[in-house]
Amino acid sequence: MNAGIIGVGKYVPENVVTNFDLEKRIDTNDEWIRTRTGIEERRIAADHENTSDLAYLAAKEAIENAGITADEIGLILVATVTPDQAFPSVACQLQEKLGAVNAAALDVAAACAGFIYALATAKQFIETQTYKYVLVVGAEKLSKITDWTDRNTAVLFGDGACAAVLGEVSEGRGILAFELGADGTGGKHLYLNEVDHIAMNGREVFKFAVRQMGESAISVLEKAGLTKEDVDFLIPHQANIRIMEASRERLNLPEEKLSKRIHKYGNTSSASIGLALKDELDDGKIKDDDILVLVGIGGGLTWGAAVIKW
Ligand code: ACO
Repeated sequence: MNAGIIGVGKYVPENVVTNFDLEKRIDTNDEWIRTRTGIEERRIAADHENTSDLAYLAAKEAIENAGITADEIGLILVATVTPDQAFPSVACQLQEKLGAVNAAALDVAAACAGFIYALATAKQFIETQTYKYVLVVGAEKLSKITDWTDRNTAVLFGDGACAAVLGEVSEGRGILAFELGADGTGGKHLYLNEVDHIAMNGREVFKFAVRQMGESAISVLEKAGLTKEDVDFLIPHQANIRIMEASRERLNLPEEKLSKRIHKYGNTSSASIGLALKDELDDGKIKDDDILVLVGIGGGLTWGAAVIKW
């Protein structure tokens, strides 16, 4: 029994905020943001849109794409650091919105690695035949925890949601291997501060991300019995183009095998990997039998990687 992604969806808010818009609000400029991060614009949710609303629209599309109905889902996992409220969880709110009456529901808090953590968890429940279908969502309204007066962080983040339905796939396909990890001693480098804003030691997170994403990508390939040469496409967490390029170089991949969607969305934390996956699929960049490496790091500190045969 092999678990794999059988349907995908995404949603990003309509409101586009460009680097030029930010120039008017804080002491920054388009050139700095583009060259240091790769970001050109990001989507920012309206006041009335919360994380569960973004999650719902992405999930609805993924369920349709999988060709199933919401009542067939056995478990909903929502990766997020920006739940509407501490409880009920976004997963429970989503269960209601979708009418997924047969689903258990919980949120996964592993920051930007959350989507991979949720995928790995879903795989267990499917391969033990506990649930036939598991809905995995990565959804964030980071704009509500962004300090819009702090240029060190305000330029980096955006809102959005991605979703994937996991179910049984044919032998040799699906999630071939995963790797998860955490280092709580690094929690001080990236956290929600006492006024509920993202606080970040950018240089420390940068160094950690470059090292860990490269190591996790290599290690998960070994677990899958594959090598760098087998990789068709790398989908890293879209945090900073320089971190993403470092991961690509670590795998000796050519430019065209790296998913680069950061310029449109900024860093959407747990939504970023799934958003990139969906866009690459929509653009026909991913073909049947391709070997994909998904890798991310996040606050915690956490990391996660997965190898998927599409
Ligand atoms: N506009 C203009 N100048 C700026 C800005 C800005 N928005 N931000 C910082 N600067 C200035 C700094 O003040 C500094 O000036 P100084 O030299 O006069 O002191 C200079 O630019 C360089 O600052 P650095 O911090 O050294 O810039 P760096 O090249 O390290 O880039 C960045 C900063 C983009 C934050 C980088 O460190 C990074 O990407 N870190 C990782 C971020 C990340 O991945 N976070 C994940 C969080 S996801 C989650 O879990 C929610």
